[in-house]
Amino acid sequence: MSVLLGPNQAEGLRRLVENSSSRTRIITVTSGKGGVGKSNFALNLAITLANLKDKNNYSHPKKVILMDADLGLANINILIGLIPKSNLYHVLKGQKKLNEIIIPTNYGVDLIAGASGLSQLANLSKEERLSIISSILELSYADFLVIDTGAGVSSNVTHFATIAHETIIITTPEPTAITDAYGIIKSISLDHSIQPSVLKLVVNRAHSQSEAEKVAGKLISISKQFLNVNLEPLGYIPDSPLIPTAVRKQIPFCVLQPSSAPTQSMEQITRKLLNIAPSDQQNAPGWKKFLDYLIGND
Ligand SMILES: Nc1ncnc2c1ncn2[C@@H]1O[C@H](COP(=O)(O)OP(=O)(O)OP(=O)(O)O)[C@@H](O)[C@H]1O
Ligand SMILES: [Mg+2]
Repeated sequence: MSVLLGPNQAEGLRRLVENSSSRTRIITVTSGKGGVGKSNFALNLAITLANLKDKNNYSHPKKVILMDADLGLANINILIGLIPKSNLYHVLKGQKKLNEIIIPTNYGVDLIAGASGLSQLANLSKEERLSIISSILELSYADFLVIDTGAGVSSNVTHFATIAHETIIITTPEPTAITDAYGIIKSISLDHSIQPSVLKLVVNRAHSQSEAEKVAGKLISISKQFLNVNLEPLGYIPDSPLIPTAVRKQIPFCVLQPSSAPTQSMEQITRKLLNIAPSDQQNAPGWKKFLDYLIGND
């Protein structure tokens, strides 16, 4: 039985997911500790997914919706300098339908804005949660739906993880972030009653490749040993002054500096997520060695 939801709610959710005919691949981004870089990651992942080129440099534009589901402190619209007229608040209050509040951005991604500053909405009632989730499953025009969530088990994270095909856990190398990442992995993985989401890991703000390797290796091994969870490493993003600069300029970092190290990391992570062969440059020994190390291909 679900440890997070009551039996009726879990059953309701499972039925919703099973009956959905949506072809949209749902990717939830979450973390245990707050402030580890989820929103910046989710935004830049969505943009990279929408604009990814293949090995031969051909574009295959994809339809991507980015949903800011951090209902207490939503801020993706601020990261791109947009002031949306309506947001999830209006959906939760029954004033709008989810598909009516989707707005285009300048970056080839559509946005569903969260309800900022309305902390009373951070924990939804059962009915509100089911209603939002069933609307999400109706968003079938998109190839990808990237959901940015709040941090921690007390938020709605685990519920959004239940409908995602995959959940990307973000951690930084800080011991507190690693411990909290393990906590959220545990909560999601114990929720057996729902379709299991594949859990993937990104180490953000790494100061070196070896630091990222150590953090990922540790989390992968304790998740396997104590939870029997196969946590799949997607890669790491370096700690870089580009990210706070991009936040201040309200331009996504991958747009602000397309050839920077964080942007290249973002592309490598996106390719790994989609199982697309890396470009020749990304086959560079350092990156390949890192992935081999993590998946045990020594
Ligand atoms: N790779 C990085 N290098 C340097 N700074 C970073 C990096 N990633 C994120 N940051 C900084 O960390 C701060 C938090 O980032 P962000 O808002 O994306 O985190 P979050 O996990 O979404 O936070 P919250 O839990 O509050 O929603 C921002 O000021 C951002 O500039
Ligand atoms: Mg955030």
